[in-house]
Amino acid sequence: MKIGIPREIKANENRVSLRPAGAEVLVQDGHEVLIEKDAGVGSGFSDHQYEQAGARILDEAKAVWEAADLILKVKEPLPSEYPFLRPGQTVFTYFHFAASQELTQAVIDSGTVAIAYETVQEPDRSLPLLLPMSEVAGRMAVQEGAKYLEKYFGGRGLLLSGVPGTPRADILIIGGGIVGINAAKIAAGFGANVTILDVNLDRLRYLDDVMPANVSTLYSDPHTIRDGIRRADVVIGAVLLPGKKAPRLIKRDDLKTMQEGAVIVDVAIDQGGCVETSHPTTHENPTFVVDGVIHYCVANMPGAVPRTSTIALTNATFPYVRRLANRGWRDAANKDAALKSGLNIVEGKVTYAGVSEAFGLEYTSPESVLQ
Ligand SMILES: NC(=O)c1ccc[n+]([C@@H]2O[C@H](COP(=O)([O-])OP(=O)(O)OC[C@H]3O[C@@H](n4cnc5c(N)ncnc54)[C@H](O)[C@@H]3O)[C@@H](O)[C@H]2O)c1
Repeated sequence: MKIGIPREIKANENRVSLRPAGAEVLVQDGHEVLIEKDAGVGSGFSDHQYEQAGARILDEAKAVWEAADLILKVKEPLPSEYPFLRPGQTVFTYFHFAASQELTQAVIDSGTVAIAYETVQEPDRSLPLLLPMSEVAGRMAVQEGAKYLEKYFGGRGLLLSGVPGTPRADILIIGGGIVGINAAKIAAGFGANVTILDVNLDRLRYLDDVMPANVSTLYSDPHTIRDGIRRADVVIGAVLLPGKKAPRLIKRDDLKTMQEGAVIVDVAIDQGGCVETSHPTTHENPTFVVDGVIHYCVANMPGAVPRTSTIALTNATFPYVRRLANRGWRDAANKDAALKSGLNIVEGKVTYAGVSEAFGLEYTSPESVLQ
């Protein structure tokens, strides 16, 4: 099979969908790997490294798209890429179709097979291709919180760990899932006083078991949230209601009760944010201030650390990539329930219920396109 890796063209997207190590394995499996020139540079992988792995470098995206049976990307195709989509090709990437009717229609019209990273779901309901980005964002949330606590950035001028004889910073993490546990681990390592709130008691029991002594757990309700934010130096918003907008757990009026120069890192901003005053920001302009509280609301936090994010993402995607390459999409999806759940649009048919519901489009079951 010919496997194509175009360079990502979305603004500030420096990740790449395949590392040289992956290219080497695919070439050993008997495939041809075609990489667009400089596709890996933003993540620190040179064309030379891909060539050494046995891949071929092509100068233009068009040539990669035209030749490949399987296209691997990171972000959804942009309008300038729509003309490249065609029947007889499989595209494996983050699509987030429900966020764009234009993209959905372009992919339906193209006749391509679209397998979305974000809906690849293992039988235990885990989402293995979203998980690594939550790990990155959770760990980074503490790093960003620490930075904006510095006076120079407008914060309270507090060191997370304190020093002997001074108080440690209080970090409140709302939501103890993947983002929350990763944030807690890093914050605890810094020596801060950490509190995790969640509504899932089993999860709180687990966190209580595995976290060090400077991490406490509390059941999340309006009272514990109001109480927690009053004392917090950094609040990390890490809640998720699957498939829904994030609940607005911190109201505008609540900000007045917070300390001047406290920081909110609203990681859940990609689902609308869990703070009423949050709105999405970018890495160029990551923060804004409301009532003296610094809000950091970058919707694609992993983009700031593309090397780590590329390695983490491709560690997770590669086993699926290999199955798709070695078996073809139909056989691979027939044998692997996780890949089957990744099928979103197949040769003009919408095979993912969430996408058909989002735009009132006819739904076709994945089983019927797999026969
Ligand atoms: N900004 C970014 O760059 C970025 C990157 C990765 C993930 N995210 C987002 O971070 C959020 C969290 O992701 P995750 O992978 O940790 O999800 P997750 O499902 O692993 O965890 C979410 C947790 O929130 C808890 N929760 C639900 N309602 C709550 C409430 N009222 N109070 C307290 N806890 C509550 C759930 O019980 C669960 O434990 C998601 O919105 C995700 O899209 C953002």
